[in-house]
Amino acid sequence: MTDAVGALAALGRTRPDRALLGRALGQLDARYRLGLKITAEPHLAAIMAEFVSRLADAFGPLSALRGRTVLDIACGSNSSRSPVTGLETAEFEPWMCRLLLELGARPVGIDIGDLAGEAFENHRVDLGVPGALDFLAAGSFDAIHESRLFGSPEFRAAHGPSTERIRREIHRQERRLLRPGGILIHSDGRPVGRGSMPLGRRGASRAKSAGPYPAQR
Ligand SMILES: C[S@@+](CC[C@H](N)C(=O)[O-])C[C@H]1O[C@@H](n2cnc3c(N)ncnc32)[C@H](O)[C@@H]1O
Repeated sequence: MTDAVGALAALGRTRPDRALLGRALGQLDARYRLGLKITAEPHLAAIMAEFVSRLADAFGPLSALRGRTVLDIACGSNSSRSPVTGLETAEFEPWMCRLLLELGARPVGIDIGDLAGEAFENHRVDLGVPGALDFLAAGSFDAIHESRLFGSPEFRAAHGPSTERIRREIHRQERRLLRPGGILIHSDGRPVGRGSMPLGRRGASRAKSAGPYPAQR
């Protein structure tokens, strides 16, 4: 394990979490050369750290992820591009789904990019198409993660003026797909329903039910 991967494992908030993370990240290093990719693109370490923190904020002990179904909307892919350079980047490979899988969860990744060969369930879907998520069963996810879709170069190029319509449609689908009491994790930090949340809980909230959704989003 490289120093960078070891530093990520140290972000676990308890000794058991650090052990669990160490094993999971070690697998990502062996399978996907995580450490080498961080060396080549150092910002990837910040993205991974952010994912670890989101999971700990949302679930508490990382062992709580075992067996949970988690939908990752615009999960990243092996052909995703950087909004900064416009070039393909390791930063937006499907790291959250890979990490969830290694932590014992059951991730389902959705993206328009190339996910061939990934070990988690995935679907190549254009989220700009109305009803794109209709094929997923209502109330079937314990948690939904949606991160950095709307600023992505692929999305802006294809759907720029329609962004707000698509955002509303995706959020409607999230309400349908989340089981009652399920957890919604958004990257934009806008809390769902209540006023502002402390930073530590940013972007993670529990749905009261899969039915009516708090108005803010
Ligand atoms: C900036 S990356 C974010 C990846 C990951 N969620 C993260 O937070 O690091 C944006 C992702 O959105 C995907 N994407 C862009 N437009 C899409 C569309 N119309 N349908 C599905 N996925 C799309 C891209 O392929 C890319 O993987």
